[in-house]
Amino acid sequence: MKLIIDDAHIDQIRKIYEYYPVDGVTTNPTILAKSGRQPYEVLKEIREFIGAKAELHVQVTAREAEGMVEDAHRIIQELGKNTFVKIPSVPEGFKAMMALHHEGVKLTATAIYTPMQAFLAAKAGADYAAPYINRIDNMGYNGVKVAKDIHDIFRNNGLQTEVLAASFKNSQQLLELCEYGVGASTVSPDVIFALVKNKAITSAIDDFIADFEGLVGAGKTMKDC
Ligand code: G3P
Repeated sequence: MKLIIDDAHIDQIRKIYEYYPVDGVTTNPTILAKSGRQPYEVLKEIREFIGAKAELHVQVTAREAEGMVEDAHRIIQELGKNTFVKIPSVPEGFKAMMALHHEGVKLTATAIYTPMQAFLAAKAGADYAAPYINRIDNMGYNGVKVAKDIHDIFRNNGLQTEVLAASFKNSQQLLELCEYGVGASTVSPDVIFALVKNKAITSAIDDFIADFEGLVGAGKTMKDC
């Protein structure tokens, strides 16, 4: 399972890239709005930092297919052809996906709440389909199960599309999809940081260091003795 950062704050992205093995960055219009900066200014900064070949996902904002295609062309022009263009999984979006897939544009079908949205997006040429795990949970359904069902639908129908699960609020949701082996998950910085954050871990490491310093002296490590 690829692990992707769902955020547009360059400081957070830099920090996560330094300490965690991640595979790219996803954004959406709300995430860009939270940055408070001009969209392409932020996105170009991210692209420059992660490199031309890394996965960057950027969403169209037009409502109709023709406008989505124009948005996609501009996104690729500004950020490179390796950029995944995110398109909402609605009829206008399917129309845009079919046209863009024909041009060879990389596509992430987004705003997915039901398996059949994902199925149609996959048939329209999407490389990824992004179910919104926590938002589905909040509707009273099971977001993790929806994502697993979508993964199974793709495999059972010979579709190459991968799940790119989005909208996580906790480690358990991510763990279950990691165990299942979905293609990718995109996760906000706070959920990434919470993956390895508990007192049992820090306490174990503190005990090892205290024991070792008791043997060789305070502040000394394996290189000093
Ligand atoms: O891009 C969709 C996903 O990032 C939504 O996440 O946390 O706003 O539900 P969230």
